[in-house]
Amino acid sequence: MTEQQYAISEYLDVETVNARLKALTSQPIRPLKRDAMTKFLEYFNQKCTKSKALTDEAKKYIPGGVQHNLAFNYPFPIAIEKADGAYMWDVDGNRYIDFLQAGGPTVLGSNYAPVREKVMEVINSCGPVTGLFHEYELKLAKLINEYMPAIEMFRMLGSGTESVMAAVRAARTYTKKKKVIKVGGAYHGWSDSMVYGLHIPGTGRLEATGIPRGANKNTQEFFPNNLSALRRKLIVNRLRGGTAAVIIEPVGPESGTRPVPFDFNQKVRELCDEFGALLIFDEVVTGFRLGMGGAQGYFGVKPDLTIFGKCVTGGYPMAGGVGGRAEVVNTFAPGIGGTGERAYIGGTLSANPLSCVAGYYALKEMERTNAPVIAGRAGDRLTKSLQAIIDKYDLPFVAYNQGSIVHLETSGVMLLDLKNPLKTLKEIKSRKHMIEEMGAAYMAEGLITLAGSRMYMSMADTNEIIDDALERFEAVLSKVEGV
Ligand SMILES: Cc1ncc(COP(=O)(O)O)c(C=O)c1O
Repeated sequence: MTEQQYAISEYLDVETVNARLKALTSQPIRPLKRDAMTKFLEYFNQKCTKSKALTDEAKKYIPGGVQHNLAFNYPFPIAIEKADGAYMWDVDGNRYIDFLQAGGPTVLGSNYAPVREKVMEVINSCGPVTGLFHEYELKLAKLINEYMPAIEMFRMLGSGTESVMAAVRAARTYTKKKKVIKVGGAYHGWSDSMVYGLHIPGTGRLEATGIPRGANKNTQEFFPNNLSALRRKLIVNRLRGGTAAVIIEPVGPESGTRPVPFDFNQKVRELCDEFGALLIFDEVVTGFRLGMGGAQGYFGVKPDLTIFGKCVTGGYPMAGGVGGRAEVVNTFAPGIGGTGERAYIGGTLSANPLSCVAGYYALKEMERTNAPVIAGRAGDRLTKSLQAIIDKYDLPFVAYNQGSIVHLETSGVMLLDLKNPLKTLKEIKSRKHMIEEMGAAYMAEGLITLAGSRMYMSMADTNEIIDDALERFEAVLSKVEGV
């Protein structure tokens, strides 16, 4: 394999970004001017009538009217009919530049034909599932091992959520310890043990509705970037049976919404070694998006276990898996009957031929085309010009990127924390609504973002498309109150 390249061309100046984010949340919000917002909302009433009718009807049969958190678009969800490369079209025929990219998996762009053709071949020969071994399972596992040598073995599963559940179980089985430490605010799927300290650091069980206390009593959180807080937790845990694992997103929680210093991962690695805990990298977003070697290759840090999702099947269904040290991953070995040391997992549709062939060719194509790096450069271009627009209008907003993951923080809702609970409680509603409005305004200008604050770039984002997008962003950002 040739020397690996990565999507990040220059590592963030984390201190400066964090200082600017702090300044953003320290001041009152700067939403869109009311008359401008009214005009943006008119777009939905005039141009999205079929979407409205469909999603209104869906509310009768589907809770909330949509099946996916990312589709909760204000003022109502948009129904999509077609996706290709950097574009999506809704059922009313409106075209959008697609910076959601399905939430991250499609680094090659949406509905990439060379992968689709390979998937169709397998569907034509054996259908999507047989329940027995298919050669593409081996091909995909070998390929992942080639790109990321720390993945000595790989067990494929149905989603990132399932894979985190499995990794935690394997870590506990292997270390015979119980505690698992995560970063406050980080999302690692919605399993009972991980709906803890979700979105906002310090919130613990706040969102654990329907989850009994016992289910996450061995989950702990530490404040983002606070290594001494992590050390203190590890020390206390040592007196209480020990820490099975520390799980982190290597670019920082929520795809780097709170970015980490470059040496953060290495320092967590050292702490894990000192205290006998396993280090789990959640690479659901970063795996292959940052480069074929993932965040672990970029940062040069070897985790014990890695969580995969999204890119591992190139956007095709059943995207998940756990890989890592053979002796830990081997605790999953299937078969009837127990050895007593087995971490039990399963899944009727896990590692089906469709997911495996899609993953295999998506990764091959990503390497062949250098898609992660191309998407990363697209992220640089978008970020640099967004920041120029922010500066031009003297806005307090912050644009920053880690390769093809671009953040555009305007309301800062994701950056609140419980260090100042009164401020957070007072401001969360208005900051949340502002981000909904921003998302709606971008959409009315033909841009689809993730929750109005994040953009996932793909290889399909040419300079022309980005420059077109920038004009549309400016049409929104120039209408902020006070401009
Ligand atoms: C970092 C991270 N971990 C885990 C998950 C959960 O993955 P899935 O949605 O496949 O269950 C996500 C989903 O967005 C994620 O971003």
